[in-house]
Amino acid sequence: MKKILVLAIAAALIPATAALAAPPAEKKAGIESKDYKWNAQEGEKIEALTKKGDKKAGEEGYEICGACHLPSGAGRPDGTFPQLAGQHTTVLIKQMADIRAGLRDNPTMYPFAKELHDAQELANVSAYIESLCIPIDHGHYEGADAAKQIATGKDLYEKQCKECHGANGEGQKDKFYPVIAGQHYKYLLRQMTEIRDGHRRNANPDMVKVIKPYTNDQLVAISAYQSSLVMPGNMCKPKAGGKKK
Ligand code: HEC
Ligand code: HEC
Repeated sequence: MKKILVLAIAAALIPATAALAAPPAEKKAGIESKDYKWNAQEGEKIEALTKKGDKKAGEEGYEICGACHLPSGAGRPDGTFPQLAGQHTTVLIKQMADIRAGLRDNPTMYPFAKELHDAQELANVSAYIESLCIPIDHGHYEGADAAKQIATGKDLYEKQCKECHGANGEGQKDKFYPVIAGQHYKYLLRQMTEIRDGHRRNANPDMVKVIKPYTNDQLVAISAYQSSLVMPGNMCKPKAGGKKK
């Protein structure tokens, strides 16, 4: 009951947050700057990475996040809110610290990211999210030419992405490479476009090099393929409360 109430309040607040909340952290140039150093090991990120996350405390901290990312962590197939369940703690901590530090834009989430008060809370909520199973029924590419798009995307992925994100989209925890399997097609396409065009300022320069020459059609194909990836043993049908792996 308490959880439902918190969600209802958070949902009701969302449209008003822009007016109520403190302004987002000052924008950092990130990849737009010549001196950009990807994943510099500094600030609260390094602190959170060295703390042991407490899943139980993290579950409580996550309540406010569920309003957008859902209690299961599944996000939404329309691509507005990414799927988070099962993501590596390293990736979660880096992305949240980057958002908090102004290195990645996220005006809707920023006030909620600020609700996590310190590095320990970042570690807790990340440990909880990582423990959730990756939902199977996420948004896929739905065009009539899906088979062709997926085949084209597979070809590109195996040559240029697999080395970092893994054959099944499992990423690499110790290198901060995200899990891709189970992510929504529409979110993937949006991220691919933003990373190619230099708008995701915390992006990895080696990935940007690879994706820079991609046409819009190639971004569709690579996103269609990514949304078809499955990680055996780590995926399940989500229950309302977020089932553990
Ligand atoms: C008001 C809605 C909202 C709330 C509440 C919210 N988020 Fe988000 N979150 C978003 C949006 C939108 C994005 C995607 C931003 C983008 O497109 O780059 C996002 C992205 C993320 C990402 C990056 C995912 C990735 O794959 O790179 C993480 C991690 C995340 N949120 C964690 C959280 C946590 C933890 C909380 C609770 C403290 C939270 N969010 C609360 C809207 C929200
Ligand atoms: C050198 C390793 C590397 C290569 C090669 C690479 N990536 Fe990435 N990718 C990363 C890292 C690191 C991130 C997270 C960036 C950051 O720090 O915010 C990322 C982020 C992403 C994201 C966003 C995930 C999210 O949850 O927001 C997607 C999608 C993605 N990569 C797909 C691809 C595809 C498709 C290719 C091939 C065309 C590719 N990557 C090539 C390392 C790589």
